[in-house]
Amino acid sequence: MAALLILPACGWFGNENTPSALDARSDAVQRLADLWWLMFWLGTGVFVAVLAMTAYALIRRRDRERDEASDQQFGQTLTVAAGIIIPIVILGVVLFASVGASDATSAPLDEPALTIEVIGYQFWWEVRYLDYGFSTANEIHIPVGQPVNIHLRSHDVIHSFWVPQIQAKRDMIPGEVNILRLQANEAGEFRGLCAEFCGLQHALMQFILVASPPDEFAAWVANQQQPAREPTTPAQEQGRLVYLQSSCVYCHAIRGVNDPPPTGVISPDLTHLASRRTLAAGAIANNTGNLGGWIVDPQGIKPGNNMPATNLTSEELRALLAYLESLE
Ligand code: CUA
Repeated sequence: MAALLILPACGWFGNENTPSALDARSDAVQRLADLWWLMFWLGTGVFVAVLAMTAYALIRRRDRERDEASDQQFGQTLTVAAGIIIPIVILGVVLFASVGASDATSAPLDEPALTIEVIGYQFWWEVRYLDYGFSTANEIHIPVGQPVNIHLRSHDVIHSFWVPQIQAKRDMIPGEVNILRLQANEAGEFRGLCAEFCGLQHALMQFILVASPPDEFAAWVANQQQPAREPTTPAQEQGRLVYLQSSCVYCHAIRGVNDPPPTGVISPDLTHLASRRTLAAGAIANNTGNLGGWIVDPQGIKPGNNMPATNLTSEELRALLAYLESLE
């Protein structure tokens, strides 16, 4: 039953792993979650104390004999304690704890194991592996347990990079480079999203952070560094021709086929498109039907994104799909 209640919130992801900033999978987010709980319990304590005092004042029996002077004394003591001393103590504790937590989450590491540049676009993420010389989109792979520096930039408007279980959010500001430290404590796929309203498809500007054991990560890097696979069937061969003769090539690149695209427009690199889990920045799962729908009617799937529809016969589309799906 609980699973049924949770499922609708997962959307396309098909993953019980809904991102909660309290479900910490890194030391940084653990610090933030601890801070959240500290503030929650302090707030709860204050709330209960205020309610108790209100209740006491309401139900206290009126006592005509009581001593006005001692009542006044009690009132003054309470005002000083509850109005000045206790707030100073509570706010001091919260200040101390939050300075410690922000220290733990914000300072870039001196020597990261890896530096990745992530650039925000309306409405997708370009992911450049500066150490390895390739770029991909909407999917960030990192080795588990190792410090990674993410250089955050924006191509157009302000976006915000957020993987709730792994790190605090950080804005991507045009003309600036913000550096974020990332380190996952466990292997897994973590959902990331844009956390700053950036236009029509802000809600469908998502990505996946994949933390894998170092040997799996190295295998992934080795594959991504390769140029695109050569067609091995006549359909794939024809599909590559369709790609080269269609409007795809104006904006997209496939390394070894057309790189870079002639217009200078930057769109998701398709060299290893078939290796990715989602299309259109997490809008849809990466499968044949969705890819076909996306090519033919991208505005129907994600209105307001920058990809125009591609006019193809059904035969051309089938061939193009056969080719694109071979690009593992
Ligand atoms: Cu990009 Cu919101």
